[in-house]
Amino acid sequence: MIKFQNVKKRYNDVHALEDVNLEIRQGEFISLVGMSGAGKSTLLKLIIGEEKIDGGRILIDDIDISKIGKGDLPYLRRKIGMVFQDIKLLPKRTAFENVAFAMEVCGHKKEKIAGDVPKILDLVGLLHKRDHFPHQMSGGEKQRVAIARALAHRPVLLLADEPTGNLDEINSDEVLDLLLKINQLGTTVMLATHAADLVNKVKKRVITLEGGKITKEQKEGKYQL
Ligand SMILES: Nc1ncnc2c1ncn2[C@@H]1O[C@H](COP(=O)(O)OP(=O)(O)O)[C@@H](O)[C@H]1O
Ligand SMILES: [Mg+2]
Repeated sequence: MIKFQNVKKRYNDVHALEDVNLEIRQGEFISLVGMSGAGKSTLLKLIIGEEKIDGGRILIDDIDISKIGKGDLPYLRRKIGMVFQDIKLLPKRTAFENVAFAMEVCGHKKEKIAGDVPKILDLVGLLHKRDHFPHQMSGGEKQRVAIARALAHRPVLLLADEPTGNLDEINSDEVLDLLLKINQLGTTVMLATHAADLVNKVKKRVITLEGGKITKEQKEGKYQL
């Protein structure tokens, strides 16, 4: 599904990624680990085309994404959902409206939105909070709304960049369980995190980045540095 071939990314004199080779198959759950500054966010940003690569190739479904024209970038991004540590829901909109808004932006019809949003909120376990505003929800619930929003356009790949970075252990576990459930339902998931305890709970493929290089790959790994 995704191939990195000798990928390089520089920010001026910083080698954010160096000779990264990676193959991700459809349906995998991947934990991308490493200390702060290792290059995790950069790797995810390259996949969604938010940053350009300085060497090598990234293929998504055998299409070289550096050759995708600007006009086709939204099409690529619709295949991908992304969530961040910094949740950024629309504060004056309810859980329902936050997810609905993401669908409106993609041009879906009102009837489709009315039908789909409850299903997505149910999937993330928050149908009972559909009319709650962000300030009425816990951090974990807000992140689950953000995940619902990312799923609104039915992506085949979900990228999560430190999604539990601002959450306590209980809320982190809820978010992690949700990511695992989404993966079981068929979506490929990439979780970037520096949190060892989280990765050790997942027990799936672990890729370790250090100083922009992949230094370790484990099938059912534990976080080791
Ligand atoms: N926009 C940027 N400008 C300059 N340097 C950057 C930028 N983004 C990231 N970097 C640098 O690239 C390296 C990798 O960063 P990043 O991918 O954010 O790491 P991680 O997500 O693992 O913490 C770091 O040295 C960071 O300082
Ligand atoms: Mg990061």
